[in-house]
Amino acid sequence: MTTTARPVALKVGVVGKGGVGKTTVAGLLARAWAERGRTVVAIDTDSNPNLGLSLGLSLEETEAVPVLPRSVVVGRAGGPAAEDLVGEYGRPTPAGPTLLSAIRVAQAGAGCTCGGHATVRSLLADALADVDLTLVDMEAGLEHLSRSGGTLAHADLLLVVCEPTRKSVVTAVRTATLAAELGIPKVLAVGNKARSPEDEDYLRTALAEEGLAVAGVLPYDEDVARADRAGAVGSPPGTPAVRAELETVLDAVESSRGSLAADG
Ligand SMILES: Nc1ncnc2c1ncn2[C@@H]1O[C@H](COP(=O)(O)OP(=O)(O)OP(=O)(O)O)[C@@H](O)[C@H]1O
Ligand SMILES: [Mg+2]
Repeated sequence: MTTTARPVALKVGVVGKGGVGKTTVAGLLARAWAERGRTVVAIDTDSNPNLGLSLGLSLEETEAVPVLPRSVVVGRAGGPAAEDLVGEYGRPTPAGPTLLSAIRVAQAGAGCTCGGHATVRSLLADALADVDLTLVDMEAGLEHLSRSGGTLAHADLLLVVCEPTRKSVVTAVRTATLAAELGIPKVLAVGNKARSPEDEDYLRTALAEEGLAVAGVLPYDEDVARADRAGAVGSPPGTPAVRAELETVLDAVESSRGSLAADG
């Protein structure tokens, strides 16, 4: 475990096209950050929440995580402090990160999920003073960058996960454009599910051509796929190749932290 000096708190959104591996990558990064000795809060904003599974909880434990109240204004106008919300609704996961569940659609016709997104937006606006990393696993699509000012409007950094397909690269580019319009200071791409050197080359070239910096490219990994099928996973899955690339992504994020702090 490498533990360096305590850094500036950072709020990171994990976004990208459907099925590219956002939840898997968010879970792996959260675990790897915790292994570096960081305090991590991971927020699931998918209406079909399963980040808990990627953080080593069972399905029952994941489903038992209480959903954050809707449309909360954190820290102001008599609203709860961010720390209090995390204390009341957060649940510990085996590898260290605390899991928050923001949205769950439990029955048909239950209405829109805007209130849950508003709570996350407000939570991100209010600094979580004791948390090194706040990591938000987003639902697929671009709506979270437009809805009522943008769920991720107060994120410091977006990680756009991309698999080696043209469509996921196109989605990443659209995402980066919207992020810039929202004023999110930095976007980094994370390639995922590269099955060959050609896949990795495609991702690096296509993303660079679009002006997107690449924080790392994770290989397609049977160990990760097997862990997903097995359900709860006690220790973080991934072969040494995946784990090495995760460290590269963490380093890229940690080094952008310096420039973000300087800009801020
Ligand atoms: N590096 C990887 N190696 C092998 N399988 C992977 C890898 N990354 C993700 N997967 C698999 O890809 C599938 C989709 O992953 P995941 O659910 O994380 O995607 P997602 O982007 O969060 O999807 P959604 O858009 O539905 O939220 C899962 O079966 C997962 O196990
Ligand atoms: Mg997901």
